Amino acid sequence: MTRSSSIRCLILAVCFLSPAGLGLLCPPPGPQPPGNSGLTGKYIGSERCSQCHANTHTSWLATLHSGALATLEEMGQGENAECLGCHTVGFGESGGFVNRATTDALAGVGCESCHGPGRDHVENVADINLRPPVNIASSVCGRCHTGANHPTFEQWQQSGHALVTESLASSFAQGNQLSSCGTCHSGDYRFLAIQEGQSVPADLLSGKSREEMNAVACATCHDPHGRTGNAPFADSGRDYQLRYPEVAYPTATNTLAATTDPTRFNICGQCHHSRGNTWQDTSRPPHHSVQSNVYVGEMPVPDGTQPLTLSVNSPHALVREQCSSCHMYRQDFMSEIAPAISGHTFEVNFAGCVASGCHPAAENAQALAATLRSSVQALLDDVKTRLGDPATWEYSCCGGPADGQPIAGTADERDTLKKVRFLYYYALYDGSYGVHNPGYTRNMLLTAQGLLTSIGR
Ligand code: HEC
Ligand code: HEC
Ligand code: HEC
Ligand code: HEC
Ligand code: HEC
Ligand code: HEC
Ligand code: HEC
Ligand code: HEC
Repeated sequence: MTRSSSIRCLILAVCFLSPAGLGLLCPPPGPQPPGNSGLTGKYIGSERCSQCHANTHTSWLATLHSGALATLEEMGQGENAECLGCHTVGFGESGGFVNRATTDALAGVGCESCHGPGRDHVENVADINLRPPVNIASSVCGRCHTGANHPTFEQWQQSGHALVTESLASSFAQGNQLSSCGTCHSGDYRFLAIQEGQSVPADLLSGKSREEMNAVACATCHDPHGRTGNAPFADSGRDYQLRYPEVAYPTATNTLAATTDPTRFNICGQCHHSRGNTWQDTSRPPHHSVQSNVYVGEMPVPDGTQPLTLSVNSPHALVREQCSSCHMYRQDFMSEIAPAISGHTFEVNFAGCVASGCHPAAENAQALAATLRSSVQALLDDVKTRLGDPATWEYSCCGGPADGQPIAGTADERDTLKKVRFLYYYALYDGSYGVHNPGYTRNMLLTAQGLLTSIGR
């Protein structure tokens, strides 16, 4: 008795001192709700976490995770041992879920499904060593989001999002470039800097292998704790728990600051936007990430200067789920030979062009894309050929004139060449060969051709 009341005092003191985000006025720990006589092991149940993490608990209650056992019960599978492992906390483990009558607080995908057993923490909140880990690795989710019915983890592993870009991984491991490149390339950096608002030590990833680093992980895009309302066309009853809006309709602008501002763009545009280079930069081409800007029909220019080419609205900017419609097409499980498609390879699936109600058949959309691609490729080839010897125009990073050394010709000719190479790489690095914004991509390359003609190349 004395022991538990002193713990209670300590708990209350910790609760009052703890930062916002924890439910501030924690009530003293009460008895477990009925139906939990079997809760004596390492798992303690989500209900108990609510005493101190009240906000997190309230948001979690509204998620499908919290009702995952109810989902099984509605189909008469509430006691099927084959299903319970992923629809409850700790089923099959000592101290884990057994049934509603004795371990009700472990029903559904609870706090401890992702954070591990919490009893030691609850009984010793002040002990830092006993705090449950906060792990953003996709393997936490991949334990359940796996298999033929929902191969989300396996498909994500095949995507470029699964691993940090190779050259950057070695840089990060040496303690370099994290703050300049990590916002988009490091899930670890992004979590601390953006989600948690913390300053991140430069050596955060020192000595880590590429496999130990988090790139664009599940929890980078998904809020693990709550519904967010960010998916306006979610299937009935679902929410997808996206951290950022799935669709956005920004007005095209060529202002440098706006083209790099993630808050203008949808979830994919948090990273797939311009890094801010303009045609005046001599050492580097625009980054590989300009997709959202091309989609909107915009291009950063030095402040106070004219746009290089005319903006065009893309018909594809109006597709229902924008980037996801084409890059995240999903399909339910049909059979072992036609397993579910989770959309998490992020590769274009032309079935999405039909599902979004735009094209009559996937073959039809694919054929249109192929035709567009060859015409864009022909324009790219023509511009590249007419630019001529790379030593006379290329970025210094890419085999051309050394940093600071002027490219060939008079001042006007040099500016013209800089504009052309910028347009060329902007169109090339978008990577969709016109599909993101057919008219705008054509305009970029026709403008580049015109500029080349003006200097006799
Ligand atoms: C009696 C109060 C109390 C209860 C009950 C409680 N916690 Fe905590 N928890 C804390 C305090 C205090 C901290 C430290 C807060 C901080 O550093 O922001 C903490 C920290 C955590 C952290 C680590 C946060 C971080 O940033 O490192 C996790 C995860 C966590 N709790 C999960 C849980 C889970 C899961 C449960 C239920 C099984 C639970 N807690 C129950 C008080 C409590
Ligand atoms: C213990 C197994 C388990 C773990 C671990 C798990 N999930 Fe789930 N998840 C489920 C189940 C089961 C459902 C379906 C629940 C239902 O429909 O009743 C689900 C549903 C979801 C949904 C759909 C929500 C909606 O409203 O459409 C998302 C998104 C999701 N999980 C993301 C995650 C992420 C991100 C992680 C890791 C941070 C994760 N899950 C970890 C089992 C799990
Ligand atoms: C390997 C872990 C795992 C096992 C085992 C499992 N589920 Fe699930 N279940 C999930 C996940 C993860 C989701 C969420 C899928 C999503 O939204 O992509 C889910 C979702 C569901 C849904 C919601 C509808 C849907 O398909 O999205 C139903 C119904 C369901 N499971 C029934 C079952 C039944 C019945 C069994 C046993 C025969 C079972 N599950 C076994 C992980 C599992
Ligand atoms: C689907 C997996 C999942 C579930 C379920 C889950 N968490 Fe978390 N939790 C995470 C991940 C991943 C992070 C790190 C990312 C973040 O904070 O958004 C995290 C972070 C935290 C943190 C530290 C940062 C913060 O947001 O305050 C606390 C505390 C926490 N969780 C408590 C809880 C509690 C309490 C519950 C149950 C009500 C719960 N979690 C349920 C996956 C989960
Ligand atoms: C605004 C977000 C953002 C920032 C900041 C950023 N990148 Fe990227 N980067 C991306 C995206 C998105 C891609 C993928 C584009 C694609 O696949 O078409 C990418 C692609 C790359 C690639 C090509 C990868 C490949 O496999 O071809 C390299 C190399 C690269 N980035 C290096 C860097 C370096 C070095 C920095 C820091 C100086 C950096 N990036 C900063 C978003 C960013
Ligand atoms: C780059 C961002 C991103 C990453 C990374 C990501 N997701 Fe998603 N996820 C989305 C978006 C966007 C949707 C909604 C797709 C749609 O509208 O069809 C979604 C949908 C889902 C859904 C609900 C739809 C369904 O039935 O499958 C689940 C479950 C899910 N994701 C789980 C995960 C898991 C688990 C991981 C990690 C293995 C993950 N996601 C990684 C962006 C992401
Ligand atoms: C947190 C930043 C971030 C977000 C959010 C993000 N991406 Fe990426 N994406 C990247 C980076 C970084 C790469 C480059 C990875 C590499 O090649 O090394 C990339 C690569 C890609 C690729 C090339 C894939 C490959 O396998 O080479 C596609 C396609 C893609 N992303 C689509 C999307 C879509 C669609 C969304 C929204 C649902 C999205 N991304 C959201 C950062 C992000
Ligand atoms: C109308 C369908 C469509 C929409 C909408 C769409 N894309 Fe694409 N995207 C494509 C096609 C087609 C390609 C070329 C794919 C290929 O060659 O495999 C592509 C290529 C890409 C690539 C380069 C992939 C690589 O392997 O290098 C990235 C990155 C990308 N898209 C991201 C995005 C982002 C971010 C959005 C939203 C702003 C978006 N896409 C919207 C169809 C679309």
